[in-house]
Amino acid sequence: MRLWFNPASPFARKVRVVAREAGLDGRIEEVGIMVSPVKPHAELARENPLVKIPALSTDLGTLYDSAVICEYLDSLHGGKAMFPKAGAERWKALRLQALGDGILEAAVLMRYEGAVRPQPLQWGDWVAGQLGKVRSGLDALERECADWRDCFAIGEITAACVLGYLDFRFPDEAWRKSHPALEKWYAGISQRPSMKATVPL
Ligand code: BEZ
Repeated sequence: MRLWFNPASPFARKVRVVAREAGLDGRIEEVGIMVSPVKPHAELARENPLVKIPALSTDLGTLYDSAVICEYLDSLHGGKAMFPKAGAERWKALRLQALGDGILEAAVLMRYEGAVRPQPLQWGDWVAGQLGKVRSGLDALERECADWRDCFAIGEITAACVLGYLDFRFPDEAWRKSHPALEKWYAGISQRPSMKATVPL
């Protein structure tokens, strides 16, 4: 399998963490590429019509986006499932993944607005709206993380990638100051080999 990724992408990090937690990283060739919302990458465009990373080339064709790729990888190993198969546990995991993905979407949009969009076109109210989603999402994670204990399924993996991305791109947001339970949780979870091997660059 070939994984198209960028080392800064938190969505690609989800996939890379799942691959390592599943013990599948030896079966995946990671292809690091530069991505731009305004200059599509020609080779990636042949694999993914949306020209987005992460994308995973497999015998079944190319899979995207991160939630689909992560669940596919989870189906390939015999260890503890990161996507519970059914029932309340599954819906809880998918909802937590959606919460984390939503925070990441808002944070990545903020990043693009600041780093890619020409300054005269930047829209402060829109950025403030995205930041509001990041903050209210973090507050929800803070309320919920006492229930996670030592579980590291897809919801918790996504939450860990959220916190890592905020440290990487938005250190001034200083999320630890107002989220002590998340701070404690992340201090432990970020020591996992899968997290240490995928720190954003
Ligand atoms: C970033 O540089 O922050 C980034 C790169 C790729 C995808 C998402 C975010």
